[in-house]
Amino acid sequence: MRSKLRGDKAVITGAASGLGRSLALALAEEGWRVGIVDIDDAGANETLSLVERAGGAGEVMHADVSDPESVKAFAEHFFESWGGVDLLVNNAGVVSAGTVGEIRLEDWQWIFGINFWGMLYGCHEFIPRMKEQGWGHILNVSSGGATISLPWIAPYNTTKSAVKSLSETLSIELAPHRIGVTVACPYFFKTNLLSDMRYTDEYERSWANSTFDHARMQSDEVARKIIAAMKRNKLYVIPQLKGKVWWFLMRTTPETSYMMFRLTNRFRLLKPVGNLLSRWGLF
Ligand SMILES: NC(=O)c1ccc[n+]([C@@H]2O[C@H](COP(=O)([O-])OP(=O)(O)OC[C@H]3O[C@@H](n4cnc5c(N)ncnc54)[C@H](O)[C@@H]3O)[C@@H](O)[C@H]2O)c1
Repeated sequence: MRSKLRGDKAVITGAASGLGRSLALALAEEGWRVGIVDIDDAGANETLSLVERAGGAGEVMHADVSDPESVKAFAEHFFESWGGVDLLVNNAGVVSAGTVGEIRLEDWQWIFGINFWGMLYGCHEFIPRMKEQGWGHILNVSSGGATISLPWIAPYNTTKSAVKSLSETLSIELAPHRIGVTVACPYFFKTNLLSDMRYTDEYERSWANSTFDHARMQSDEVARKIIAAMKRNKLYVIPQLKGKVWWFLMRTTPETSYMMFRLTNRFRLLKPVGNLLSRWGLF
């Protein structure tokens, strides 16, 4: 049997900003204690102040999720000092965009280190400890990039697809241990994600910024929808309606959908169409 979300102690990576901060605040409002893990100490302390102002409690821990020793250290710290952790949120993430062959290998390594290995290290350290305590829940923050493979953003798509696949596998493996797994696949919403974005062409930066500027749902609402899905022990959560529509399309008609993308790009129309769709808030 898979578990329903229970407990009141959560550890959230990347909680200094954006979705991580919104999740921390929403959980704090429900009485959860939150472990705020990030490389950005100033942002993490600001999240802690907001959590405390919301009537909650928390603790900041500096850690780089791409470093396995740091992840082990915060897992040990929270399990020992709190006497257990009920929820791990693997949320820290970055964006690298560009054309394959032009994207620097060090940028591939950078994004895989955080988006994939960071999540894997979290799972590696928390799963045995959760098995020992007899329950838990893991929320992995993937992306709409795991449901539709848009061009010029392959490093992001591939890391997020790996996270989605890992989460699907874990949901089955962990079922006998009363550990639930949820994978969130939000489409674009405005956060600080693009401030450290790596890219090879100005188009990628301006397209991504345009999707952020035209996103209708904001991170607090994304967080609320994710928490509601975890409470129902859902494996997948795609918070925005546009995301559900894209996912349905890509799953039911993948051959036709990718053929349409290829044709549009062959006639050099994909970038202008992409700009238009981003301005309409459709990504
Ligand atoms: N904003 C979107 O449109 C969107 C859409 C889909 C998925 N996501 C995912 O949501 C998650 C949160 O992103 P966000 O949009 O809130 O961005 P954000 O930049 O506001 O927050 C990301 C946080 O991760 C932290 N971080 C980065 N590298 C780290 C590292 N090595 N170790 C520890 N912390 C690190 C940053 O300091 C930051 O506080 C990411 O995984 C992102 O891929 C975002």
